[in-house]
Amino acid sequence: MKYQPINSALFIKNRKNFASLMQKNSLAIFNSNDIYPISADSTMPFEQHRDLFYLSGVDQEESVLMLFPDCPNENLREVLFLTETNEHIAVWEGEKLTKEAAFNTSGVQTVFWLQDLEKVLFEMTTYCDTFYINTNEHYRANIVTETREDRFTKWLLAKYPAHSVAKSNPILQRLRAVKDPIELDLMQQACDITEKGFRRILNFIQPGVWEYEIEAELIHEFIKNRSKGFAYTPIIASGNNANVLHYIENNQQCKAGDLILFDIAAEYANYKSDLSRTVPVSGKFSERQKAVYNAVNHVKKEATKLLTPGTIWKDYHVEVGGIMTAELLKLGLLDKADVQNEDKNWPAYKKYFMHGTSHHIGLDTHDYGLLHKPMEANMVFTVEPGIYIPKEGFGIRLEDDVVVQENGAPFNLMGNIPIEAEEIEDLMNA
Ligand code: GLY
Ligand code: MN
Ligand code: MN
Repeated sequence: MKYQPINSALFIKNRKNFASLMQKNSLAIFNSNDIYPISADSTMPFEQHRDLFYLSGVDQEESVLMLFPDCPNENLREVLFLTETNEHIAVWEGEKLTKEAAFNTSGVQTVFWLQDLEKVLFEMTTYCDTFYINTNEHYRANIVTETREDRFTKWLLAKYPAHSVAKSNPILQRLRAVKDPIELDLMQQACDITEKGFRRILNFIQPGVWEYEIEAELIHEFIKNRSKGFAYTPIIASGNNANVLHYIENNQQCKAGDLILFDIAAEYANYKSDLSRTVPVSGKFSERQKAVYNAVNHVKKEATKLLTPGTIWKDYHVEVGGIMTAELLKLGLLDKADVQNEDKNWPAYKKYFMHGTSHHIGLDTHDYGLLHKPMEANMVFTVEPGIYIPKEGFGIRLEDDVVVQENGAPFNLMGNIPIEAEEIEDLMNA
């Protein structure tokens, strides 16, 4: 791991919160992700299941966490199972967690090797009535593979068909949405690394540069600062590429007079940041580009103010739509008739701003959070309005990550990252 050790108090608290929301006499089980194969003996880099990480800090494959808060055998109230480490594994794959290191990381006192799982689990099943299983109910999830968690759940329910089943996911969606101060600090670190990357490319961009050359600068800066890399596949979209919302080819040359839309950010310790900025290739916006830029920036500022406790995500989007509509009218992109005749299910502004304004962010870029529930202090949301105009050859999106505060304005974790048009121009021409 490139990141510095995390205070285990975070994971101890997360487990306590989860346990407090479980039914009596129940056992919750969480599995790590598989290491996904490519072909031959090649594999994708390991990415820990965020729920297991959230509850234990264990960042290693083939790990299982079991929580049984009222287990009569007190030693089995919190249990970790890990791949046994030995000298052979240490030589070929590097050091794995010892039982002591697993305790230091997670605060879990009872650590077994994986080969003891069936025997220990059997004892636990004799005391409990209900299994909490961990399914993925994220509103954007679209999964076709069978995960290690799915495989385990199938095996568990086939072996113990008399137990009833409850869902971990709604509890995790609720808990993970509200960030602990330790998590906010980790997210701030991710944002600070992103800032370093962004400042680095402001001095690097000039007509003729290739989008992938900018990508290379960013990854250099991110890894140099203990990030494992991009928080999500980076978008570096010059000219009309910005109007393809999920453009990730990053293989075009940047031309004088064009804008470049970046949606790029670093992760740190598995926590994500999510930044969008749009800058002129030649270091100076045209008058029209600047007018649209300032409109997006205005919507972003107004939308940020609305992220307060009690706000409902859906209502917030309707309100932001109204603010965006006013800007599009001023820019002459919409006229009054467009708005008067609009379809309420697809308002006129959607022609130029067709994606959402905000999503939860945390261990996942599009993080957990129950969107029908009111916003709460210490939830973290992106704010990311955009205006996309293919017929004018550019698209603009601006995106920061902000923390909802109990009293007062949301706190912008990206408040130090340049955003005003003149500031961007000054920095690019310094
Ligand atoms: N970078 C992904 C998003 O903005 O939602
Ligand atoms: Mn985003
Ligand atoms: Mn983004």
